[in-house]
Amino acid sequence: MTVTAILSALPQEQGSLVQALQNPERIEHAGRSFWRGQLHGQLLVLALSGIGKVAAASTSASLIERFGVQRLVFTGVAGGLGAGVQVGDVVLAREFLQHDMDASPLFARWQVPGHAVRMACDESLTAMLSIAASHGLALGNAGFDHEKTPPRLHQGLIASGDRFVSTAAASQQLRQELLAAGHDALAVEMEGAAVAQVCHEHGLPFAAIRTISDRADDSAHVDFTHFVRHVAGPRADAIVHAFLRLLPK
Ligand code: ADE
Repeated sequence: MTVTAILSALPQEQGSLVQALQNPERIEHAGRSFWRGQLHGQLLVLALSGIGKVAAASTSASLIERFGVQRLVFTGVAGGLGAGVQVGDVVLAREFLQHDMDASPLFARWQVPGHAVRMACDESLTAMLSIAASHGLALGNAGFDHEKTPPRLHQGLIASGDRFVSTAAASQQLRQELLAAGHDALAVEMEGAAVAQVCHEHGLPFAAIRTISDRADDSAHVDFTHFVRHVAGPRADAIVHAFLRLLPK
């Protein structure tokens, strides 16, 4: 049976999936804990990458080479960049780009040599995550409803890089530079594009879904930990459980 990896950067982003695993087995490898087990009739490996692209790439390579996973799903939080992408909304990745990659003029700005500038996610896994997302959105925002509107689902481009974007100036500059080249990034985070690249190199399907924890501005750090624990974690739980029920056996 196909083995599925569920990957997050931080423990709080994983919700209580480890506790839900049947026949859980913890394996230490490459300085990380990997949890093998079953859930909803699926063989799973749960892993935490830690923060950043190298950590995410290393964890993805371990999942594939050491644990034999054949599909990878990332769940976690991101900063909102796109117009109307609010705290508490959910962004489903259709494509990823590395916003801190620049080998120009040898290669196009943001292009990882040997890859397209924008790396696509797997369509069928992404379609299943999109259905599963509604179960997470139904939970609401647990008191974080700043906008007083129900959380919404957005789908499109996510930009990844080794930087926590925490000023309005940095976030505007990032958004404008990308937009000027036709890249309308909805959200920014620090791992997804690296996982996408590793999956592309191995020919494996990858999908990612992120709850918006902040607007990547001067208050990006405020309430971050509380939000991840109380909103993003339960969201990830609801989405991943629904997703696993949709996966073919
Ligand atoms: N993940 C969540 N918020 C983020 C931000 N503002 N910048 C980068 N990664 C993030």
